[in-house]
Amino acid sequence: MDCDVLIVGASGLVGRELLSGLGGYRLASAKTKPGRGEGLPVSNETEFGLAETSACSGDTLAEPAKSRSAPAAPQAAEEPLDRVLGTANANPAAGLLQLDITDAAAAGELLGRLRPRCVIHTAALTDVNLCEVEAERSRAINVVGTVNVARAAAAVGARYLYFSSDYVFGGDHGPHPPGEAKAPMNVYGAHKAEAEELLADCVENYLIIRGCNLYGYQEGGKNFAMAVFELGRQGKSMRVAVDQWGNPTLARDMARAVSRLIDSSLRGAIHLAGPDHVSRYDWARRAARAFDLDEGFITGLSSNELSAVAPRPAHGGLDAGEAERELGMRFVGLDEGLAVMRADLQRAGKL
Ligand SMILES: NC(=O)c1ccc[n+]([C@@H]2O[C@H](COP(=O)([O-])OP(=O)(O)OC[C@H]3O[C@@H](n4cnc5c(N)ncnc54)[C@H](OP(=O)(O)O)[C@@H]3O)[C@@H](O)[C@H]2O)c1
Repeated sequence: MDCDVLIVGASGLVGRELLSGLGGYRLASAKTKPGRGEGLPVSNETEFGLAETSACSGDTLAEPAKSRSAPAAPQAAEEPLDRVLGTANANPAAGLLQLDITDAAAAGELLGRLRPRCVIHTAALTDVNLCEVEAERSRAINVVGTVNVARAAAAVGARYLYFSSDYVFGGDHGPHPPGEAKAPMNVYGAHKAEAEELLADCVENYLIIRGCNLYGYQEGGKNFAMAVFELGRQGKSMRVAVDQWGNPTLARDMARAVSRLIDSSLRGAIHLAGPDHVSRYDWARRAARAFDLDEGFITGLSSNELSAVAPRPAHGGLDAGEAERELGMRFVGLDEGLAVMRADLQRAGKL
């Protein structure tokens, strides 16, 4: 069976947005649980509906970055694709295929059977503190698992899009442009950086997509904005850092940008992120306001006072200006993205 796109990690925040946005298989409408290799009926709905840059329709491209082997050829994959499939591991859902990426043979077998022309690898152990204390587990998933899927993609001649993070950078000088030297400060960042380095030996047609501070409505999800919503709604307190900065990025916006990379010839690394560089404290308070919550439950503290298990850069984040020019789109700002999330919460009957 051939499929257009295989999303590895489709039970996660970004994977779900990709799955529903690419118009393939909708988790929410699942009524039956198909067997391996089957999926749900194709939906014609596309949930991408975010801001375009008015002047740029793909013909005003920036100079290709040095790390890239070919000029950009942006292509909006906004028509529903013929076959978009997704995988899950510990959190199976109707319509998703089972894959543990630490199992190289299973990855090879699944991709050999599906023969996708593009593999979007969002699967990862994303709990940064857990990675710090369970470094072997982090390595097995975030490094070895990445290599396993990249090799399986190469074996069927698929394009391979790999999700990495701003945590491959360290220190105090974000938002980071592509091409900056990597200097990870924690185990998660180090393993993402290691996986990036290994890709060139695994698969020819690959692109590293670095993201940061992803958020959006997700049933049962634990992303930062969902945590603000849930804790505020339950009247619990929330302690957040006043001295950690990044670029909050609406997951749906990320998925929309990625849809344009499936058929592009971009290689190397690209940064996809929202335009606002804000502290976690600012982000939390703006989210609370967007969700009609009294901000009093949020307490701002220094990183030292919070003493998280894993160290984090003070000024992280990503500069996505080059990507916006190349893709002919702009990422929404924080308040606009939170308004999208608010509307999703209302649609889901949560607000
Ligand atoms: N969230 C952020 O702020 C952020 C920032 C920068 C970069 N990123 C990167 O962006 C990507 C997507 O992030 P996200 O927030 O969508 O992640 P997420 O919500 O934590 O989802 C992680 C996904 O990985 C899957 N997974 C974990 N272990 C697996 C294994 N052994 N085998 C197969 N699948 C496995 C999970 O499947 P199950 O749950 O079914 O096991 C889930 O689908 C990740 O690569 C992450 O590192 C995220």
